[in-house]
Amino acid sequence: MRALGTLVALLLLGSQAHSEPEWTYSEGALEEESWPLEYPACGGHRQSPINLQRKKVQYNPSLQVLELKGYDTPTGEFSMINNGHTVQVSLPPTMRMTTSDGTEYIALQMHYHWGGASSEVSGSEHTVDGIRRVIEVHVVHYNSKYESYDVAKDASDGLAVLAAFIEINDYAENTYYSQLISQLANIRYPGQVTTLRDLNIREMLPENVDHYYTYQGSLTTPPCSENVLWFVLANSAFLSRAQVWKMENSLLNHLNETLQNGYRSTQPLNQRVVEANFLHYPTQCVGQGSPRKQGSPCHPLESGSFQA
Ligand SMILES: *[C@@H]1O[C@H](CO)[C@@H](O)[C@H](O)[C@H]1NC(C)=O
Ligand SMILES: [Zn+2]
Repeated sequence: MRALGTLVALLLLGSQAHSEPEWTYSEGALEEESWPLEYPACGGHRQSPINLQRKKVQYNPSLQVLELKGYDTPTGEFSMINNGHTVQVSLPPTMRMTTSDGTEYIALQMHYHWGGASSEVSGSEHTVDGIRRVIEVHVVHYNSKYESYDVAKDASDGLAVLAAFIEINDYAENTYYSQLISQLANIRYPGQVTTLRDLNIREMLPENVDHYYTYQGSLTTPPCSENVLWFVLANSAFLSRAQVWKMENSLLNHLNETLQNGYRSTQPLNQRVVEANFLHYPTQCVGQGSPRKQGSPCHPLESGSFQA
């Protein structure tokens, strides 16, 4: 009976739109709970995002730091679009990420997930010990062994996403974000495109990118393909409160509503194990006298290199 019901729902949805039905997080025909009706992978067993429960994270000392090439070369033009769900910046293929096992991934685009609805300023997709952070940035890459993203997006080892949290540092404007944020006014409506110049993507990420959580997951939006190797950075980047407000209130969706709370709820971990390339201690860092602030990881050998 359940299968029949699903079939009927699929036929109904299918009659509305054949190729890519418009999905939403909370309103409209295809809200989050219904994504699997039209995109079966969204109902799979290795979905993203997840809650990163630190006491269950497995430290893997053989994991190397990520090598980010071309991230800090601030030349060229980057197109930035309001795609109806978020702001998305196209990235040049000269930007590459090499993972611990030597696999090279080519950057394609980066986009953001934020909150903002009903004075709720948290909008990250991944949570750490149940805590949702303010903003999450995703830098989407595809495996360089494939000739294009279009080929890689259907391959089991096709994609890798570098994710980072952004938190609020009250009155400290992050000038590396000034251009992106000021240009949001030019892409208020879905489909609008603008151009950014000489972005330094590296500076838009956390100061320390050495420490990460990693696990096998999926795209967090339809079609939710389960071929994404995730790298979630342990350290955060920071924006001022005013900058965060602009991210949350500048763009409109297809219904001309303010684009807010564009994040998917966390998905079951199931049989997966989350690994980290750093050790964390529940109460304090070795070599540091005071209790650790929430979210700041530490490592016994290089505790001095961490931002507080
Ligand atoms: C959104 O607003 C623009 C500009 O006012 C208008 O042209 C467009 O028709 C509106 N779209 C919807 C779905 O209301
Ligand atoms: Zn995303």
